[in-house]
This record gives sequence, structure tokens and C-alpha cells, in this order.
Amino acid sequence: MELGDLKVIVTGGAQGMGAHFARRLLEAGARVAVGDVNEAGLAALPAGIERRRLDVADEAEVAAFVAWAARALGGLNALVNNAGIIRDGLLVKRDRQSGAITTLPRRDWDAVIGVNLTGATLMAREVVATMARAGTRPGVLVNISSVSRHGNRGQSNYVAAKAALAANTVTWAREFAAFGVRVGAVAPGMVETPMTQGMNQKARDALVAAIPVGRIGLPEDIWRAVRFVLECDYFDGRCVDVDGGLVM
Ligand SMILES: NC(=O)c1ccc[n+]([C@@H]2O[C@H](COP(=O)([O-])OP(=O)(O)OC[C@H]3O[C@@H](n4cnc5c(N)ncnc54)[C@H](O)[C@@H]3O)[C@@H](O)[C@H]2O)c1
Repeated sequence: MELGDLKVIVTGGAQGMGAHFARRLLEAGARVAVGDVNEAGLAALPAGIERRRLDVADEAEVAAFVAWAARALGGLNALVNNAGIIRDGLLVKRDRQSGAITTLPRRDWDAVIGVNLTGATLMAREVVATMARAGTRPGVLVNISSVSRHGNRGQSNYVAAKAALAANTVTWAREFAAFGVRVGAVAPGMVETPMTQGMNQKARDALVAAIPVGRIGLPEDIWRAVRFVLECDYFDGRCVDVDGGLVM
């Protein structure tokens, strides 16, 4: 599809990669609606981007948001499923000093699965149902997974969500073909955003040292892959790792 023809929702677009994608889409002539729980970030987006509070993990909010976006954009034909959170921790941990054994809190599991997997699924379901009811086709969905989908120490919750999102990219590409909707996924490596700026400096330096291209990724690096998925009408059902070679 041409970027200028898109009527597109970007979830989690109040900051970080999602805000970058929304700006790039606007510049390319797309009509863009951003949903996020970060209302201060929403307010700071450039004029021309439609915006409204959205918690992707809340089924009623998802339904209300998608109906609003379809009205605000004059239809809908694309979704960038980008909202995500981390709550990292080992599943079972021994404290170095006391030797005490602790475990990953259930609430940290539920929060990450709730936003990154259930939220993305609710959004895909609502957007495609809205398109199908309106008879709109073609359409395209981009799921933002992560290279953590291949497995990563300290991220049981995030790995499970991002691997499931990549796997369901195949499921949805097969199911939504009936509605003229393609589905692709992009799995970033380590990217400079507020999510990684919060990381422990030692862990961050060690990760950057392991990246063959020699630097942390930028939102623009990931945008190029998102753009490819949106534009290439022969791309369907695959997840592209964009990680500077980190996980090859
Ligand atoms: N930064 C990285 O290194 C990296 C690597 C791989 C994958 N990712 C993924 O890329 C996506 C964007 O990450 P980022 O680095 O820009 O993170 P970020 O924390 O800067 O931005 C994420 C956005 O999602 C929003 N959000 C969180 N919970 C939400 C909810 N329930 N409903 C709606 N919005 C919600 C946040 O408010 C925030 O604006 C995420 O899915 C993340 O998991 C990031």
C-alpha cells in the first residue's frame, strides 16, 4: 500500500518508537491516530495526528478507541501494534547476600502479557472486524515483536508475549487473508527509546558491545522495516528481526 493512502492507528505512540512511526506516517501523507495511556506524551505530538487515551489491555477502551479512530480518520485500513511494557526479572532468583529464593511476581507476568499480547490481540481483532464490517480492503497490520522472542534471560513474561505475537502474525495472516488484510511483524533489537534509557548502564554497555554493527538501534532503523511491511504488498505472515546482528 502507498503510505499516503493509509488511515492508520499506532498504539503506544506517545513516545519512543511509536511516536517516531506516527511522525513519519504523517510526513508521508497518511492519516494517523495514536492511542496511549501516556496522556502528556499524546498532548506533545505534532498537530495533524489524531490522539486519544487508550489502554490496549482494556477491552471496552479498545472498542471505543477503534470506533472513534475510524470516525476521526474517515475509515481505517492499517494498524501498527506497538504498545509494550517490560517488567524484567528472573523467574526464580537467589539473593546474593542472604541466599533467599524469590520469584517473579504474578502481577509482573500478568501486566506484560496483558499489554504486549492480549492488548495487541484485542487491537487486531477490533481493527479487522471494523474493516470487515465496513467492507474496507486491502489492509495491513504490523506487530512490533522483539528479538527477545528467541528467548532471553530475565524476561520470561516479555519473551512469552513477543514470541506469541510473532507466531500469531502467521495465524492472523492466514485468517485475515479472507478480508484482504496482510499481517507482518518487526522484531527490533536494542533501540534507543525511553524503554532502554531506563536500563542499568552495565547491562546496556554489555549488550551494545555484543551488537555486530557496533551501535544501539535508532527508531529510524526500525521505521524502515515497518515502512517495508506497510508498503510491500507481497510481504505477509513473516517477522523480520532488525537488531544489528545481535541475535543471529
Ligand atoms: N526499545 C527497545 O529496545 C525495544 C526492543 C524490542 C522491542 N521493543 C518494542 O517496541 C515497542 C515500542 O517500545 P519503545 O522502546 O518505544 O518503548 P516506550 O516505553 O518508549 O514506549 C512504549 C509506549 O507504549 C505505551 N503503553 C504502555 N502500556 C500501554 C497500554 N496499556 N496501552 C497503550 N499504550 C501503552 C507507553 O505509554 C509508551 O508511550 C514495544 O512494543 C516494545 O516492547 C522495544
